[in-house]
Amino acid sequence: MSNRLICICNFVEKKEIKLLFRKGAESTVDIQNLTRAGTSCGRCLPLIDELVAQHQTEKPKIIQKEQDFGL
Ligand code: FES
Repeated sequence: MSNRLICICNFVEKKEIKLLFRKGAESTVDIQNLTRAGTSCGRCLPLIDELVAQHQTEKPKIIQKEQDFGL
C-alpha cells in the first residue's frame, strides 16, 4: 500500500491516517471520528482496517524508536 487516497468520498490520504496513529488514534472508529473516512459509502473501511492492523503490529517498533530518540 503506497501513499495514496484511502477514502475517495472524504478525500482522506494514507499519510493523514498514519499521522493520526502517531497522535494516538488506535482504531477504525478513531479514524472515522477524526477524518470522516469510511463514514459515507464505506467502501474504504477494509483499507482503514488494514492500516489499523498494520499499525497494531508496528506500534511496538514506533514506541521503541521514539524512546531511542527521546521523542
Ligand atoms: S470511499 Fe470512504 S466512505 Fe466512500
